[in-house]
Amino acid sequence: MSGTSARKSPDRRLVAVYPGSFDPLTNGHLDMIARGSRLADHLIVAILRNTQKQPLFSVEERAAMLKGATSALTNVEIDSFEGLLVEYAAKKSANVILRGVRAISDYETELQMALLNRRMRPETETIFLMAAEEFSFISSRMIKEIVTLGGDVSQFVPPSVAERLCTKFRR
Ligand code: PNS
Repeated sequence: MSGTSARKSPDRRLVAVYPGSFDPLTNGHLDMIARGSRLADHLIVAILRNTQKQPLFSVEERAAMLKGATSALTNVEIDSFEGLLVEYAAKKSANVILRGVRAISDYETELQMALLNRRMRPETETIFLMAAEEFSFISSRMIKEIVTLGGDVSQFVPPSVAERLCTKFRR
């Protein structure tokens, strides 16, 4: 048995961080949040504040979309972070990082992040959920591309996100 301590004992709450860019939030993310909230006692959806990238939506806009779409999930918190994910997880007393895997193409990056994060903070275990097949082809990057080229993305994102995208691109 490994020496990590992410295993849940009866008196230990499972606090999970689901980190990401969420630029924008998709139905795939939402499915992951709903499933994660059933597994964890408390699920923190953590938006990365990335000063290196120019996002489509500000962190505040993304937080508002996430809050609106997850309001029925009482154990879900929406937050943002900068810097190292493992340090943020430690600050929030989270014992688990939750990530979704869509296809084999996600595997390599996710493996690298999970291994690096485990080296840096062994007590935080990364747990992967396989994306549901109906969402496995959706990505924020593709949503942005479709919308930029005039396509309709309403079947891939929550209604509030579709609305904001329409406003942003004035349609
Ligand atoms: O939605 P994304 O863009 O795939 O999420 C990537 C994210 C936010 C999980 C990743 O970039 C991250 O954890 N960044 C924080 C910085 C960090 O801790 N880097 C080392 C991880 S190996």
